[in-house]
Amino acid sequence: MTYSHEFQQSKENPELFWGEKAKDIAWFEFPQKILSQNENGFFRWFEAGKLNTSYLCLDHHVKSGRADQTALIYDSPVTQSVVKFTYKELRDKVALFAGLLDSKGVEKGDTVIIYMPMVPEAVIAMLACARLGAIHSVVFGGFASHELAIRIDDAKPKVILSASCGIEFDRIIPYKPLIDAALRESIHQPDFHIIFQRPMMVAELFSEKELDWNQALQSAKAKSYIPVDAHDPLYILYTSGTTGKPKGIIRDNGGHAVAMKYSMRAVYDTHPGEVFWAASDIGWAVGHSYIVYAPLISGCTTILFEGKPIRTPDAGTFWRIIEQHQVKTFFTAPTAIRAIKKEDSEGLLFTKYDVSSLKYLFLAGERCDPATYEWVSELLQVPVIDHWWQTESGSPMLANMAGLGLKTIKPGSSSTPVPGYDIQIMGEEGQLLDANMEGYVVIKLPLAPGCLPTLWKDDDRFHKSYLSRFEGFYLTGDGGYKDEDNYFYIMGRVDDVINVSGHRLSTGEMEEIVAANPAVAECAVVGIADKLRGQRPVALVVLKDSKPISQEELEAQLIQSIRGKIGAIAYFKSAIIVKRLPKTRSGKILRKIIRNIADGVHFEMPSTIDDPLILEEIRTSLHAYKIGLEFDLN
Ligand code: COA
Ligand code: AMP
Repeated sequence: MTYSHEFQQSKENPELFWGEKAKDIAWFEFPQKILSQNENGFFRWFEAGKLNTSYLCLDHHVKSGRADQTALIYDSPVTQSVVKFTYKELRDKVALFAGLLDSKGVEKGDTVIIYMPMVPEAVIAMLACARLGAIHSVVFGGFASHELAIRIDDAKPKVILSASCGIEFDRIIPYKPLIDAALRESIHQPDFHIIFQRPMMVAELFSEKELDWNQALQSAKAKSYIPVDAHDPLYILYTSGTTGKPKGIIRDNGGHAVAMKYSMRAVYDTHPGEVFWAASDIGWAVGHSYIVYAPLISGCTTILFEGKPIRTPDAGTFWRIIEQHQVKTFFTAPTAIRAIKKEDSEGLLFTKYDVSSLKYLFLAGERCDPATYEWVSELLQVPVIDHWWQTESGSPMLANMAGLGLKTIKPGSSSTPVPGYDIQIMGEEGQLLDANMEGYVVIKLPLAPGCLPTLWKDDDRFHKSYLSRFEGFYLTGDGGYKDEDNYFYIMGRVDDVINVSGHRLSTGEMEEIVAANPAVAECAVVGIADKLRGQRPVALVVLKDSKPISQEELEAQLIQSIRGKIGAIAYFKSAIIVKRLPKTRSGKILRKIIRNIADGVHFEMPSTIDDPLILEEIRTSLHAYKIGLEFDLN
């Protein structure tokens, strides 16, 4: 099957196309209707299909001859351990943990928050929830307690699952105090909190609601899988929107399973028995899809890596793992490659390992800049494939599809649309734009299976955020263009979302935190270019006349607030006091112009600007801070 045939078929007859792909899944009951629309007009896939995602990931393989194949390899340079689990071992552990959750009252449709580091128990917890038809919501371990509290109040979990600590390079991060603080802040309180105790830091348990993971398991009985409906949610994953309230992306069981299976074969060219490694975190969509669900649904071996691309112990870690575990397909973020390039630009550590098992490197999370592409392609001598997707889609929407025959790679482009995604570039007025014209990246409805059907308990926000701007199209939030060969170039967000080290964060939320400082009259937080992290946030602040404060003191206070509320991952380091902010005559802050000044990018003076002289002031303030030195107003 060629790419153009598959793509054409998916466009002309999506029901036929996805109906065929659905046959690859071991349903308990095959769907009665492939595509339907609910009372809100939202599209749904695979109506009345019955399945269980944990069954597909585990029991199905145990039954069909993969019981003794390695399912999961936990490779943790920070604890210097490597542990392997066969499909049968993993199935048994998941069944037992599901039994524990069941005994604590967790039922189909209940929510469970998982706030854990990259340990096998986190994967076991996810699959155990799926086994019961409970909806998990994994919260990235790098988020501060305030972020966790917001998610607790929105998801209203019956149980919270966590570990006593995480490990960041050589630092131990205690989790229990973060969870305790989150529970002091949240209105909702879970029935139980089950904690996996790690030997490097054992957490103190204060009440009967707090259970020791291993002790509680001693009396648990294995629990079998429960059939769920294709439309039942498998998980909620919160992602940054443009305000302080994150969006609860829902993933349903049926569409997700079909999309995962299809993408492993068609996008990643990875087949049962082969080793797939996504060096991400289970707190992100990449981790959900390509550390846990897609490789396991496909009968592959997946790797759970508790470490960093550098300093755990060095910039050769990735190559060591590829050799040691015979990885065929590797997926990481460009920022990780840039970090390695910085520490080992000559690739000396790379030469210590035999990475001949590797067939592809896939990159996502942010655009792969051509310099990083050239360096890593030269080093690895395998196809390096930039592909584009979002938490909302759960799998790639643009990709050079290795499983359907690789096409020419064009550095800087994430290639052509994946079957199921009719991607277009649209102008302000909703007109479709021709090749080489930059505009909004939109997708004609329906979206492919696996994409969010709506937001958790918020159909209105789903409609408003994604569907209301252009009738019949999904607004991705990204801007970009396509060329004459229909290759797309995603150039960055057009909203208040930024990507810092591949972590998606909201500048809108940061503005809310900065604005809460008593000295701040108004502010703008923008993402500016950062050589290693892709972007980093910078705040421009106008002070209240009545609250004088020095630049240094204000900055220190704001750094502390953002670390405390969002987490260190925001990498917020700079707050700059300015006299005024550039605005339109109607009072809208011109954040894009500030970003352009900071990045030294040429721009046209907007005709709506209130006072062009402000730009000079902003430029001077940024220069004083050594930001945007290449800027040229002409
Ligand atoms: N838990 C707690 N803290 C965390 C964390 C976690 N899971 N992840 C990061 N942090 C902290 C770091 O310790 C650091 O804290 P500090 O400011 O006190 O030193 C801060 O957040 C910033 O972290 P980061 O931006 O990751 O910088 P770094 O210097 O620690 O590491 C890289 C730089 C490039 C090595 C790292 O960002 C990286 O591995 N990036 C790849 C990310 C990725 O794969 N994303 C893919 C998503 S699809
Ligand atoms: P997340 O939801 O965290 O996966 O972040 C999604 C956002 O990351 C997208 O909307 C893009 O802005 C950006 N992104 C992800 N992959 C790419 C890519 N390959 N090229 C450009 N931007 C990307």
